Formats: sequence, C-alpha cells, structure tokens
Amino acid sequence: MKAIRAYAYGDTEVLRLEEIADPVAGAGEVLIEVAAAGVNPIDWKVLSGAMQAFIPLPLPFTPGVEVAGTVVALGAGVTEFKPGDEVFGFINIVGGYASKAVAPVTKLTLKPRSLSLLQAAAVPASALTAWQALTEHAGLQRRQKVLIHAAAGGVGSMAVQIAKYLGAEVYATASAGHHAYLKALGADYTIDYTTQAFETLVSGMDVVLDLVGGETQNRSFAVLKKFGVLVSPVSAPNVSLANDYAVTPKNFATRSDGRQLALIAELFDKGHLSVDIEAYALSEAKSALEKSMGRHLRGRLVLDTSR
Ligand SMILES: NC(=O)c1ccc[n+]([C@@H]2O[C@H](COP(=O)([O-])OP(=O)(O)OC[C@H]3O[C@@H](n4cnc5c(N)ncnc54)[C@H](OP(=O)(O)O)[C@@H]3O)[C@@H](O)[C@H]2O)c1
Repeated sequence: MKAIRAYAYGDTEVLRLEEIADPVAGAGEVLIEVAAAGVNPIDWKVLSGAMQAFIPLPLPFTPGVEVAGTVVALGAGVTEFKPGDEVFGFINIVGGYASKAVAPVTKLTLKPRSLSLLQAAAVPASALTAWQALTEHAGLQRRQKVLIHAAAGGVGSMAVQIAKYLGAEVYATASAGHHAYLKALGADYTIDYTTQAFETLVSGMDVVLDLVGGETQNRSFAVLKKFGVLVSPVSAPNVSLANDYAVTPKNFATRSDGRQLALIAELFDKGHLSVDIEAYALSEAKSALEKSMGRHLRGRLVLDTSR
C-alpha cells in the first residue's frame, strides 16, 4: 500500500511517501481500502513532537486520524461490517494518510449515503468534537446563545450547524471573507475578529465554544452570562478567571465513537449538516499540512488516495 511516513518528529520535511506492506486487521478490527483521509491540526501537532510526552509513537509513523473507504477484510470476531461496506471514522491518533488502514469496528460506522467518500473523510473528528463540545460538555439547549470561535474551520463549521440543529442562536467569529459561508451554514450573527473586538459586540452568552485558545479564550469569559460554560478542546480555561466570572470551564479531548458518528451520519442524510472540502492528492500531504498550519481554512482538507 501507499503511505505517508514520518521518520522523525519535525516539520513536513520529515515525511516520505512510501510503498509498504498492508496492515493486518486484528480481532475486532477491519481493514479499509482508504479513499480519503482528513487533514487535521492534530496531525501537524503530533508530527512536531509537541505531544510525544503523552502520546509516544514508534517511528516511523503515518499521520492521520480519520478516513473514509471500503471494508476489504475482517479481523476475528467481526460481525458489524462486511467486505464492500463503505465506512468512515476517527480511527486512531495516527494511520490515516495511507491507501489502507485498520480500525476497530467500535470507531467506525457506515458512510452517509448523501456524501461522497472524499466528503465523508472530512467529517469524523470535527463533527464528533463539535457534537461532544456542545451536547456533552456544554449541554447547549434550544434558544440558548452560543458564541463559536474559528467558526469557518473544520470543527467550527460543524459546530455552527449542530448548534442550529439544537435550536440555539449562533454567534460566529471569522474573517470577513468567511461570513457569507457562515450565514449559509445558519449563523445568526457573524463577527470579523480581525477588525472587531468580539467582547464589545457580544454579551449574555450561555456557551462559548473556543477553538482558538490563548487570548481569545481569556477574553471570552467576559461575554458569558453567570453560570455559562466556556468549553475548549484546545486548552484548559483559566480556573481563576472562571471563578471571577462565575463561569464553568471545560476542556476535553474528543472521544472516537462509532455509535455517535452514526447519529451524525443520519443528520447529514436528513440534510441538517453539510461539509466543505478541498482535496489534495496523497502525494501532496506536505502541502496540505502546511496549508492547515496556516490556520485560515474553510471546512476541511482531505487527501485523495486515488491521486
Ligand atoms: N482536543 C481535541 O480532541 C481536539 C479535537 C479537535 C480539534 N481540536 C483543536 O481545535 C482547534 C480547531 O480545530 P479545527 O480543525 O477546526 O481548526 P482549523 O480548521 O484549522 O481552523 C481554521 C479556522 O480558524 C479560524 N481562525 C484562526 N484564528 C482565529 C481567531 N483568532 N479567531 C477566530 N477564528 C480564527 C480561521 O478563520 P479565518 O480563516 O476566517 O481567519 C479558520 O477558518 C485546533 O487547535 C485543534 O487542534 C482539538
């Protein structure tokens, strides 16, 4: 199979496209012929070595947390899928940038009928993150107000649509070039964070979903109402500021969950969610990662293994 492999931690220069042996599905796993892999910020964060203290990886490794493709072989005991099934999932912390990948069946579900495999590859990590942030961690309710930072990105674009599906009023930050896109996704109010201080425009939020961290996260306490929730998958909010503002701070890591992804797939097939992708060839993984590192994407980049 074809695989992108990192022989050292570092920047994209450490990556090689290679021909290597196919992986073998173990018990409870399937082998997938990968059509496409999503490109996520975690891929270049893992590659940089910044996470190796708590996610140690043997070298070489293949980046990539999410794929969509066709099941081609079953490991022992697998009854959930059969060869030929088109599946997608947040498969692991690495392994996605390849023409084949193995994944536990618990992390997969059938691809939405309404999406191509290329589109489906862009969904699992971002949609699960947005869903878990808004429902499990923030408990977002109908008619509540939510401010979503980095709303035009991979997670943000899912969060805007999920928040609207849940019946919330959505405030979204992005540069002006992304405002028409965000309105089309359902955002009620858009704020250009490059020219406007969001905290001077917005107040009384029930929830802030922080997808930026740092100063943006710290400035977000002021827009929340008392007992509101500041939820971030980027970094843990400052507890002392949270106490000062009487706000609940939440930080979480996304859980891969095939059953929850099946609910999300249904939302795509019912027309509640859509995804915007830009496709690169697998051999262009370096360029795709460098574009992701620039932090100004709309939707999600994917690597097409057929090119
Ligand atoms: N812990 C976990 O399990 C977990 C899971 C998923 C994601 N995450 C983290 O969540 C973050 C978001 O992920 P993602 O995949 O959505 O990233 P992404 O797709 O790369 O986000 C790109 C977006 O960020 C926007 N942006 C950049 N700086 C901004 C600012 N100061 N204010 C508002 N928007 C800004 C850009 O908008 P413009 O182009 O308009 O500037 C762009 O649309 C990343 O740090 C990622 O690592 C963590």
